[in-house]
Amino acid sequence: MRTLIKGGTVVNATGAVVADVLVEDETIAAVAAPGVFENADKVIDAAGKYVIPGGIDAHTHMEMPFGGTFSADTFATGTTAAAWGGTTTIIDFAVQAKGTSLLSTLDKWHEKADAHCAVDYGFHMIVSDVNDTSLKEMESCIAAGVNSFKMFMAYPGVFYATDGEILRAMQKATDTGAMIMMHAENGIAIDQLVAQAIAAGRTDPVEHGLTRPPELEGEATSRAIQLAKVTGAPLYIVHLSARHALAAVAQARDAGQNVFAETCPQYLFLSLDDLAKPDFEGAKYVASPPLRPKDHQDDLWRGLRTNDLSVVSTDHCPFCFVEQKELGRGDFSKIPNGMPGVEHRMDLLHQGVVGGKISLARWVEVASTTPARMFGLYPRKGVIAPGADADIVVYDPQATTHVSAETHHMNVDYSAYEGWELKGKVDTVLSRGSVVIAGNAFHGREGHGKFLSRDLSQYLV
Ligand code: URP
Ligand code: ZN
Ligand code: ZN
Ligand code: ZN
Repeated sequence: MRTLIKGGTVVNATGAVVADVLVEDETIAAVAAPGVFENADKVIDAAGKYVIPGGIDAHTHMEMPFGGTFSADTFATGTTAAAWGGTTTIIDFAVQAKGTSLLSTLDKWHEKADAHCAVDYGFHMIVSDVNDTSLKEMESCIAAGVNSFKMFMAYPGVFYATDGEILRAMQKATDTGAMIMMHAENGIAIDQLVAQAIAAGRTDPVEHGLTRPPELEGEATSRAIQLAKVTGAPLYIVHLSARHALAAVAQARDAGQNVFAETCPQYLFLSLDDLAKPDFEGAKYVASPPLRPKDHQDDLWRGLRTNDLSVVSTDHCPFCFVEQKELGRGDFSKIPNGMPGVEHRMDLLHQGVVGGKISLARWVEVASTTPARMFGLYPRKGVIAPGADADIVVYDPQATTHVSAETHHMNVDYSAYEGWELKGKVDTVLSRGSVVIAGNAFHGREGHGKFLSRDLSQYLV
């Protein structure tokens, strides 16, 4: 089966060129000047459109147990929504429950995801119980294609790890070449602020933001960086939201330390004002770290330009407003933490291109190429080049995406961007050579997505 994507502007992290892309079966066979290839079984006209490597969302939570409920997207619905939005790979998190083993956790997540995903997927492992057994098991996870481990400085009593536990896991990461991913918020101090707010009768969603001040994200980020320095481990700060944390990352990187960070669209586009919406609507915007005052956004965009922020992932973790966010009415600390987003990351980031905040090539780099490099998928993913998987998005910069819960494909009853009109639209999506989105219709299938066993990370991106 030969598919020819004709006349588009092929955009890689290295730049853009008008070219034809020839796909044979599941892979990209060749990229050449327009008109070089003559015959194909199928031709996709990409004139006037961008041809980009499929998005890679390195931070999603499908069917994640949290706060007594589960995030609302299954691997089937969540990966289908991803495809609609031009994301052809997700890396989700297997979550170790305290008292259970990493390998049984991995089995459990394979059961949830295998044969259900519409696009390719991999796993990181959340380590919430550091002990001799789980540290040893990190090696087995690596052998099983899971070589990045998330830890939490937040959520005492749930996922929280002490500095000593983090240190031990980092030592293991140094020994094995694995990556430690860090949720960097000072959960011990935050829990005190939360208890004080509740005791004082301050129970609205906005308090979620006010009790998790940016200083405590900055502090935890600095502490994680120092622990990584002492142990020699590479460190990836997830969902960075505050300029305080960004400053710590920038300083470490300037000093040559292997520290990387991602941010998320919600921190680039939304703010504490959304959390403060009346009538409990703010609950839609409860995620951790919280949305920040608007003036953090310029710093984050700058971080994306300077590469102190190397990746944009969604932290997609949807909870329905009516049934699930409701759990925290009258007590913001019981609102399940997380926001939907997997479907709109590519479009939202494209607004940064339209607004001159990042270049076209940088859009592709932070949304696809760097996550591929960072997590051991490159050059199979993250690039339009011969030999790469034919995960390709034909993107129409002239069309408009209307965002609404009425029309989105995520299994959640609200959109954090309800009514937004975004410049640009996903036109056609190929996942390993198969057309999964075209003509405003889904042509994929549950189970098409394959598990990606990842090679040891390539850190020096
Ligand atoms: O609020 C969030 N971010 N929920 C998902 C879990 C996490 O910490 O990433
Ligand atoms: Zn299914
Ligand atoms: Zn987190
Ligand atoms: Zn997350």
